[in-house]
Amino acid sequence: MSKVDHTYIRRAIRLAMTGRGDVEPNPMVGCVIAKDGRIIGEGYHAKFGEAHAEPTALAACSESPAGATAYVTLEPCCHTNKKTPPCVPRLIDAKIARVVIGCLDPTPEVNGKGVAMLRQAGVEVVAPCLEAQAKQLIAPFIARVIHHRPYVTMKWAQSANGQVAGEMGRAVRITNGASDRVIHELRARCDAIAVGTNTVINDDPLLTARGVESSRDRPLLRVVLSNSLKIPTRSRLFQTAREHPLIVYTASTDSQKARELADAGVEVVNLPVRGENRFSFTDVLQDLHRREVTHLLVEPGPTLTRYFLARGQADRVWVFRSPKQIIDAQGFKTSYAPEIGYPPVGELNFDGDVLNEYLNPTSTVFYAHVQSADFQKAQGSSAAAV
Ligand SMILES: NC(=O)c1ccc[n+]([C@@H]2O[C@H](COP(=O)([O-])OP(=O)(O)OC[C@H]3O[C@@H](n4cnc5c(N)ncnc54)[C@H](OP(=O)(O)O)[C@@H]3O)[C@@H](O)[C@H]2O)c1
Repeated sequence: MSKVDHTYIRRAIRLAMTGRGDVEPNPMVGCVIAKDGRIIGEGYHAKFGEAHAEPTALAACSESPAGATAYVTLEPCCHTNKKTPPCVPRLIDAKIARVVIGCLDPTPEVNGKGVAMLRQAGVEVVAPCLEAQAKQLIAPFIARVIHHRPYVTMKWAQSANGQVAGEMGRAVRITNGASDRVIHELRARCDAIAVGTNTVINDDPLLTARGVESSRDRPLLRVVLSNSLKIPTRSRLFQTAREHPLIVYTASTDSQKARELADAGVEVVNLPVRGENRFSFTDVLQDLHRREVTHLLVEPGPTLTRYFLARGQADRVWVFRSPKQIIDAQGFKTSYAPEIGYPPVGELNFDGDVLNEYLNPTSTVFYAHVQSADFQKAQGSSAAAV
């Protein structure tokens, strides 16, 4: 494995990130084809159900790929029980001489088989190459196929003095228009957005992705985590439950309230109490996994934030900070954002607001301290905002 191999795999990882938001529940994959020290073709998996990275890169080649090296972020597929034809025979037919692979496919029925098939055909295979980075790229996919749960991102905004809400918990505008746009873009790439009871009461959020273009075919679920069911039926979430799907997870036995919500079009999911009079977030994740949620975005108040941080149940955290705003939040005991406790992997500026991304190093799908595809996409918006 050479420095050149690293350079091209790094490029393939960046290319793969272009597909974020459109390829799920598939993994993001990128491919670079190089010959005689030059890139002759490259591509990425752009949309679920459409061509994979390898055939896209082969089709883009400016000359014959015979004898070339293909750099692929993920082990090429060899199985046929899926939407598109397998990629290994395509690489063999194109007479690719060498394949450098970021990481093996974590799916047990595929893992290692693509490599074996390539080698059997006489293709030189180098694998893994920059494995930690390649696995971090597909951490949400690994969470899905190995851990049977969605990838969890927590996102919130705080003032210069660390407050997330105003007096008595009243909602306060913290982020500017440029940050709001990035937040809606992130929402549009996720599969579900969750909040806690108090945020519904105080903020009355809608939890939709607004003002952004999206080619998504999959639904964007809205989720409320509410053991008590003490949530106002006049809130915007419930008023719109027939237009945009809304699930309320609860441990409450208040059947009248549950019926009221169901009549408004809300799906009420009763979960078992697992201690402290609460349901367990693990049960919520299992249920969301069954609904094919790959990315869950939690927009927590400080209570839920503390809960997630204490249990290490968020894989990633995004914090928007307003550098000048000071909020006096007297009378609201939970208004301070807690300390995160792990170092940021990056920082972006949106017209003065600062966004930091943090990866939870204790997550079961943490592999490398590198910026996510969402962060790279936000960087594009940051550059555009300047
Ligand atoms: N700046 C921001 O980005 C931002 C984002 C969100 C919210 N906020 C602000 O935060 C404030 C609300 O924060 P908050 O801390 O009071 O409430 P919260 O975190 O929004 O919600 C807490 C509630 O969630 C429910 N919950 C469900 N599962 C839970 C669990 N496992 N552990 C703990 N709680 C669980 C509980 O209600 P049940 O008893 O019904 O289960 C709990 O009272 C609002 O005023 C809002 O303005 C700010």
